[in-house]
Amino acid sequence: MRILVTGGAGFIGSEYVRMLLTGTGPRLDPGAVTVLDKLTYSGNLANLDPVRNDPRLTVVVGDICDPALVDEVVAGHDVIVHFAAESHVDRSIASAAPFVSTNVLGTQIMLDAALRHGTGRFVHISTDEVYGSIDSGSWTEHQPLAPNSPYAATKAGSDLLALAYHRTYGMDVVLTRCANNYGPYQFPEKVVPLFVTNLLDGGTVPLYGDGGNVRDWLHVHDHCVGIALVQDKGRPGEVYHIGGGTELTNRELTARLLAACGADWDRVTPVADRKGHDRRYSLDITKITEELGYVPQIDLDRGLAETVAWYRENRAWWEPLKERLDPAVTHPGPAAT
Ligand SMILES: NC(=O)c1ccc[n+]([C@@H]2O[C@H](COP(=O)([O-])OP(=O)(O)OC[C@H]3O[C@@H](n4cnc5c(N)ncnc54)[C@H](O)[C@@H]3O)[C@@H](O)[C@H]2O)c1
Repeated sequence: MRILVTGGAGFIGSEYVRMLLTGTGPRLDPGAVTVLDKLTYSGNLANLDPVRNDPRLTVVVGDICDPALVDEVVAGHDVIVHFAAESHVDRSIASAAPFVSTNVLGTQIMLDAALRHGTGRFVHISTDEVYGSIDSGSWTEHQPLAPNSPYAATKAGSDLLALAYHRTYGMDVVLTRCANNYGPYQFPEKVVPLFVTNLLDGGTVPLYGDGGNVRDWLHVHDHCVGIALVQDKGRPGEVYHIGGGTELTNRELTARLLAACGADWDRVTPVADRKGHDRRYSLDITKITEELGYVPQIDLDRGLAETVAWYRENRAWWEPLKERLDPAVTHPGPAAT
C-alpha cells in the first residue's frame, strides 16, 4: 500500500509517519510512504529523523495549494492521509488568510487530485473545534458545526468539502475529529511545549483569562492509533471522533506542568483572554470505540511525564524553533529570577 501523508513534517503527521514506518501502531504494512509538506514555520524535517533512512520514505517539499505539483504527487498512491493545515488558533485570529488558503483551498485541491487519480481512500484529519463550545455533556458525530475561530471555521469548511466529495462523486472519504493533542515534536507555540520549554528555560508562562477553559488532552500517539484504525476500517463517508483523554481546565493543566518542571505559581503570568475563546470541548467517542475497538492507552500522568522528559532531553530540537515564535501569539514574559 502506498500512502501519501500531507503535513507529514508537522507534529501529528510526523508521529503518523514514524508510527507507520516503525510498526508501533495498528499494522497497515505500508509499502511506501510519501510526505508532502510545505515546511511552514511549524513543519520540520527533523521530526522525521528517526525514519529518515527508511527506504520506503519519500519527502516532497511543496504546497498543497499548487495544483500541478499535487497532481504529480497524488498519482500512484492508494491512500491519502491529509494532515496539512494552518493549525494555531491564535495565528488565525491575527491573520485568517493563510488558513483559508491552506485549509479550504488546499483541501479542495487535494480532493480534486484524489478524484482524478481514483485514489482508494482519503482520510481527512479534523478537530473538535468545528463544533464550537459545549458547557456540559459531549458532542456526537451528528452535532451541527458551529465553529467560532477563523481556524475552526476553515477546518469546518474543509470537513464539509471532504464530505461533499463523498456524497457527490462517491469518493471514499473518511473524517476524524480529535481533541487537543500533546506529546513530543510539537511546535513550541502550543500550550504544552510553550509552557514546558519556557519553564525549562527559567521563564514565565502566560495563562489566558481565568484559566477555566476546559480541554480534553490526548497523547498524539493515541490520536494516530485512532487515525490508523479509521484508515483501515472506517466506513466511507463517516466521521469518527478521537478523544478520551483527560478533561482539564487550563489552570489544572498549568499546575501539572509546573509540578513536572519543578516550578511554582509565581512563574505564571495572567494575560488577557483569547478573543472568542471557546469554554469547553468534549467529544463522545462511543462510535470509534464500538465500531473499531479504539481505546486510548496513554494516561495523562504518564504521557505528560514522558513529554516533559522528552523536551528536557531534546533541547537541540526546540531551541532553534523558539526563534520562529510570533511574540503576538506567545506572550513572552520576563525570565524568572
Ligand atoms: N494539534 C492538535 O491538538 C490537533 C487536534 C485535532 C486536529 N488537529 C489537526 O491535525 C492536523 C495536524 O495538526 P498539527 O498539530 O500536526 O499541526 P502542525 O502545525 O504541527 O503541522 C502542520 C503541517 O502542515 C504543513 N503545511 C502547512 N501548510 C501547508 C501547505 N500549504 N502545503 C503543504 N504543507 C503544509 C506544515 O509545514 C506542517 O508540517 C491539522 O489538520 C489540525 O487541524 C490538530
